[in-house]
Amino acid sequence: MASFAKPQHLLLVATVAIALLLVAADARRRPVHLRLYMHDIIGGPGQTAIHLIRNVGPPHTSLKGAYFGDTVAIDDLVTEGPAIDSRAVGRAQGTYMLSSQHEQVLVAAVTVVLTDGPYNGSTFAVAGRVKIFDDTTELAVVGGTGQLRRAAGHLLWKTAEWVSEVYMVLELVVHMSVPATASTAAPANWSSLAVE
Ligand SMILES: *[C@@H]1O[C@H](CO)[C@@H](O)[C@H](O)[C@H]1NC(C)=O
Ligand SMILES: *[C@@H]1O[C@H](CO)[C@@H](O)[C@H](O)[C@H]1NC(C)=O
Repeated sequence: MASFAKPQHLLLVATVAIALLLVAADARRRPVHLRLYMHDIIGGPGQTAIHLIRNVGPPHTSLKGAYFGDTVAIDDLVTEGPAIDSRAVGRAQGTYMLSSQHEQVLVAAVTVVLTDGPYNGSTFAVAGRVKIFDDTTELAVVGGTGQLRRAAGHLLWKTAEWVSEVYMVLELVVHMSVPATASTAAPANWSSLAVE
């Protein structure tokens, strides 16, 4: 009798087939592309960011007046356009820290909560390294909740405008995907926030 016909072999074949199906289902992902603006105001009226740790670590070797480990906590307004009075669509909450003693580099750990539109109440988590004087930095989208559960991807973070010395507008162009099996209630992109 051919050995592959034995019941335990059939079971093995069935198990492998199911595992492959699960992998295939997981491989199908739905893209979600968003363009958002974040208002980072570190002093004065409408302040949204504070120095949590300052001047504790050793002096930074290439950023005058800064110290290794300087950390800012943020609760920044997120809008659909670069103007602060454009539609509010969320908050960006978390920290960024001067994470190199010599290089001009921050490490950001920020969660964006969306408060409007089809992703209202959903979040995505952003992590990565920001070179302070680079025009554009790539950060990782490392997860999400709600409609964005198991989100993965990247985002491009760049300074859109310096409104004043303490007020910076950042543009976030987000390219992420969620499992195709996730709720389909929300469109792949969100009308006015969609990246063309
Ligand atoms: C977003 O969700 C919150 C909580 O469920 C709700 O109070 C609010 O009205 C929603 N906002 C919009 C614009 O749908
Ligand atoms: C976003 O949605 C619109 C309308 O459904 C569609 O025409 C467009 O191709 C979509 N863009 C992306 C990047 O998926």
